[in-house]
Amino acid sequence: MAENPTRSIFITGLKNAHALEKEALGIMNRQIDRLEQYPEMADRLRQHVGETEEQIKRLDSVLMEMGESASAFKDAVLSMGGNMAALGHAAAGDEILKNTYANQAFENFEIASYRSLIVMAEAGSFTSARPLLEMTLREEEAMAAWVAESIPTVTRRFLQLKEAGEQASH
Ligand SMILES: [Fe+2]
Repeated sequence: MAENPTRSIFITGLKNAHALEKEALGIMNRQIDRLEQYPEMADRLRQHVGETEEQIKRLDSVLMEMGESASAFKDAVLSMGGNMAALGHAAAGDEILKNTYANQAFENFEIASYRSLIVMAEAGSFTSARPLLEMTLREEEAMAAWVAESIPTVTRRFLQLKEAGEQASH
C-alpha cells in the first residue's frame, strides 16, 4: 500500500516542529544567562522554556501515535533559526535588541508551522493530534504577543543603560 501523502507530509511537519522547538530551547537558554539587566525578559523566557519542553513532549506523543518513535529520528539542523538568531554579537553591545527581533521572528515562524500542522491534522483526520497542536499554538501566540509588546520597554531600557554607561565613562 502506498504511503498516504497527507500522512507523510504531516509526519515530516511534526519532525520539523520538533527540531525547531529544540533549537528554540538552545537559543532561549543562551539568552537567559545574559539578561541580568532585563529581568522581565529573563522571567518570560524561563516560562517559555518550560512551555517549550511541554511542546516537545506533545510532539513526541503525536509522533508516537503516528507510529514514529521519538528515538527513530534525528532532529534536522535548521538553517533558518541558526542564521536568523546568530547570537555571537555580544561585542556589538546591542544583542538584546537583535535577540528581541529574532525572538519575534522565531515565534512567528512557530505560529505559522503550527497553523499549518493543524490544517494537516484536520485534512488527514488525525483527530487526537489537533487539541495538542492547538494548545501549543496558543502558547506561541501568547509568547509572540508578549515579545511584540516588550519591544518599546526593552528599547527604552537599552537606551537608558547606554546613556548611563556613557556618562559613567566621562
Ligand atoms: Fe515558542
